[in-house]
Amino acid sequence: MELALKDRPLRLGILLSGRGSNFAAIAESIQAGRLKGVVIAVVISNVAEAGGLAKARELGLPTAVFVSKGRKRAEHDADVIACMRTHHVDLVCLAGYMRLLSQKFVAAFPQRILNIHPALLPAFPGLDAQTQAFDYGVKVAGCTVHFVDEHLDHGVIVAQRAIPVLETDDAHSLAERILVEEHIAYSEAIALVASGEYEIRGRRFVKRKS
Ligand code: GRF
Repeated sequence: MELALKDRPLRLGILLSGRGSNFAAIAESIQAGRLKGVVIAVVISNVAEAGGLAKARELGLPTAVFVSKGRKRAEHDADVIACMRTHHVDLVCLAGYMRLLSQKFVAAFPQRILNIHPALLPAFPGLDAQTQAFDYGVKVAGCTVHFVDEHLDHGVIVAQRAIPVLETDDAHSLAERILVEEHIAYSEAIALVASGEYEIRGRRFVKRKS
């Protein structure tokens, strides 16, 4: 995959709908120098009141809002794609973006859209994954960062982090502990993708030997 841009930083376009803790963790990794060669080009939300947008503004990052409620998916996505293009986004990062992407969006950024899901895919896709996992009685839970394809929570897996489910856990405490791992996993996955040192073989994301 030729995403490594040796002469300039990789430009991220963040899409979020809510509190934005994953976005904040990515921003923190960049600021702390743990995620090198990467900048946040724009933070876009489909919800005007999203906490993540306020954080982005505090950090002085470019932001945009395209309210999706009541709009046709294709029209809304066209606005978002155009905004990503304006900001020269190389890699789109979904960070709690509570909206399915249209085919057109996925096609506009082939293997260039990452998502984070709070379960060890392919188990527990969809909403409330942590509760699904807890109620199912799994002994190991975790999170997955994957490329987005046309199916829900389905694309090639870039990174996963696992934790044990404790006897003392409830769905809430499990979700909190998974979130800690999400914040690590997302930056790790972006660093891997930004390095360009990988190949996709079938469904497998394989790091190139350095
Ligand atoms: C996270 O649990 C993420 O895995 C899921 O949505 C949640 C977003 O949380 N896709 P935040 O807005 O990043 O805090």
